[in-house]
Amino acid sequence: MKIGILGGTFNPMHIGHMEMAIQAKKHLSLDEVWIMPCGTPPHKEGDVVLSRIHRFKICELFCEGEEGIVVSYEEYDRLTPNYSYQTLAYLRENHPHDEFVFLIGQDSLLYFDSWRSPQKIVEYATIGVFMRNSHKGGTTDYNQKICLEKIASLKEMIGGDYILIPYEPTDISSTQIRAYIADHPDPEAVREYILKYTKKKACDYIMSHDLYKTPVKYDYNTIEKELKKQLKPSRYTHTLGVCYTACALAMRWGVSVDKCRIAGLLHDCAKYMSKEELFDYASAHDITLSEAEKKAPQLIHAKVGAFMAKDTYGITDEDVLHAISVHTTGCPDMNLYDEIIFVSDYIEPNREPVPHLEEIRNMAFSDLEMAVRMILKNTIFYLKETNAYIDPTTQETLDYYEKEQ
Ligand SMILES: [Fe+2]
Ligand SMILES: [Fe+2]
Repeated sequence: MKIGILGGTFNPMHIGHMEMAIQAKKHLSLDEVWIMPCGTPPHKEGDVVLSRIHRFKICELFCEGEEGIVVSYEEYDRLTPNYSYQTLAYLRENHPHDEFVFLIGQDSLLYFDSWRSPQKIVEYATIGVFMRNSHKGGTTDYNQKICLEKIASLKEMIGGDYILIPYEPTDISSTQIRAYIADHPDPEAVREYILKYTKKKACDYIMSHDLYKTPVKYDYNTIEKELKKQLKPSRYTHTLGVCYTACALAMRWGVSVDKCRIAGLLHDCAKYMSKEELFDYASAHDITLSEAEKKAPQLIHAKVGAFMAKDTYGITDEDVLHAISVHTTGCPDMNLYDEIIFVSDYIEPNREPVPHLEEIRNMAFSDLEMAVRMILKNTIFYLKETNAYIDPTTQETLDYYEKEQ
């Protein structure tokens, strides 16, 4: 097979990378182009480089449905930055019957001789150079002239085969995408921007994992002090337990530890109020209560708590607020934050022992949805046993999770 190698950090991959891959494949009649993200990129000051898990996943989503353009995991496990000649030596050894074209940009060509062991690179692969058709840097003729001059001098110095690939550069870079996300708090504006330069699935992935966002710094100390003042000591101890458990589950399930920490801390922030106070607060702030909540006022602290988290503690993150508002009953199709807070509330270390608690604690770290289902089953069983009122949402949530399983 004739294979093009397009390496890079891909932080994140964007439409410009894809267009280069497609153009190289077409122009050089390649069987495949391998998008090859590096496992560990060379460190650059000030750069936010996503973990390899996210970078590779975004590339995967980007390449879905693109014939002959595939993500290569050759570099995935590498824990230190790798030089190109090392990568190519490895490819040469492991794919002795394939022919490789190492794809580089025009700018890279101009200082190619300063790369580590360029003579080895040209020994292992043909060099495919993306030559700009037009650019602020000059016309096609100008670009061709400087590329050809450089190639002539490289041939003299280190030998090798070089092919020019004319292409129209896309005016986008990963740096621009990262900067836009970090600078714009409005998720809709960010989505609209990213969609211009990625594919929908990759965009959804970036958005749902909050990638490249400047993390909001919560003032945990002040919030903890305030909660300690408001809540009964046992409730405060429970709150800290939920907070720590939620952090551990966030680490396990790869979501924002900060969001889980703040949601865990504030999930019971309205729990100091009496039933009357909860009703009063709800009506004073136009919080609509369901029939079920009117019948079982102990449930209201979830909705009121979410409102207070925003109003009193200044939390605006929708995931956090939603997780707080559904933490008592759950709801069908919860997201990971909802599930983590719901489960943490039940399994935190200070919980009085209930049947199957150890099993559920274990399950939370291997199958979160199963843990949700076990908790709902337990809760409904307990409510039935004690002839207590069962909120229809709890039952609906269980029905949903049973079907899902
Ligand atoms: Fe609660
Ligand atoms: Fe709680």
